[in-house]
Amino acid sequence: MRDEGLLTGAPMPEEDVIEAGLRPRRMDDFIGQASLKERLSILIEAARGRGEPVDHVLFSGPPGLGKTSLAGIVANEMGSAFRATSGPALERPGDLAAVLTNLDAGDVLFIDEVHRLPRQVEEVLYPAMEDFELDIIVGKGPAARSIRLELPHFTLVGATTRVGRVAPPLRDRFGYVARLDYYLAEDLARIATRSAAILDVAITTEGAGVIARRSRGTPRIANRLLRRVRDFATVRSDGTIDADTADAALEVFEVDHRGLDKVDRFILEAIIHKFGGGPVGLSTLAIAVGEEPETVEDAYEPFLLVEGFLQRTPRGRVATPHAYAHLGLEAPEPGADPAQGRLYDA
Ligand SMILES: Nc1ncnc2c1ncn2[C@@H]1O[C@H](COP(=O)(O)OP(=O)(O)OP(=O)(O)O)[C@@H](O)[C@H]1O
Ligand SMILES: [Mg+2]
Repeated sequence: MRDEGLLTGAPMPEEDVIEAGLRPRRMDDFIGQASLKERLSILIEAARGRGEPVDHVLFSGPPGLGKTSLAGIVANEMGSAFRATSGPALERPGDLAAVLTNLDAGDVLFIDEVHRLPRQVEEVLYPAMEDFELDIIVGKGPAARSIRLELPHFTLVGATTRVGRVAPPLRDRFGYVARLDYYLAEDLARIATRSAAILDVAITTEGAGVIARRSRGTPRIANRLLRRVRDFATVRSDGTIDADTADAALEVFEVDHRGLDKVDRFILEAIIHKFGGGPVGLSTLAIAVGEEPETVEDAYEPFLLVEGFLQRTPRGRVATPHAYAHLGLEAPEPGADPAQGRLYDA
């Protein structure tokens, strides 16, 4: 059995409800990302001072770092209604028109996965963002004509895990584009401690530190590991999460001291053992580890890259000496034939 995605930043089924309870609602509850918070607070305060809606904002960054949470915070801090939809849900221009014409002045419209908006829908969005106008076609054939509707001044908050795939004309229409970075361990420890308080679980500073260091810079993973460790602490000890229970629990769930799980190690081992350390193409690698290429690319790779276990080269993925060391293997001599030992590369 594989613990599906324990350590990917992507949300797991049934996690929505739990996440909703742990989600920070106000700027003060949102931990870390200090400079982003400062800029966003200035934006919000200035808009409030002028009595206007906030400029359109785009949040980008890997899954689970707090984009949706921040979108909600913008609405709460403005005292505005929050309406949420997503790129894939807006299939036709009419879907977006229906959403837009139902907005009230000042509302925050949140479009998740904004890079997945269909092109024709995007084109409706441009004048809506820029001039708060909507052009719609009524009638069919020769009788068809275009009418222009005025829209209330709203704030669009977009979120994307792939800022490179947001069309430049769309990106340029956001007044503020904010990138979320992986969190520092100390911030993740504070997040774990805050969540433990909400879940009514006792946790020590050291226990929170153990969880933080293995959470791959991602609040969603910190919260997920916290819940697993809580289960373990309830069943195997007095329920308090200290460093020992956290360590023991994460060992049971096969999360190692650097926050790598089975799938991460499997990916590195595959590159090393099956492809001579690389380079190996993404799709070949994905097949070798039995995952979808997108899952490898979006969920596993970013962390392995950031932590220096993996490199991306024009010819494919390469395991670094750091990866060999982490797996207790000897790295090949620099300059050694990289193809040596390569058995399955296509
Ligand atoms: N800065 C933070 N402080 C406290 N908790 C946080 C913070 N950021 C995220 N979280 C927690 O992590 C969970 C996931 O965050 P969120 O859903 O906002 O991420 P996301 O970036 O929208 O992810 P996705 O890309 O999958 O949509 C939230 O439910 C919240 O509990
Ligand atoms: Mg989200």
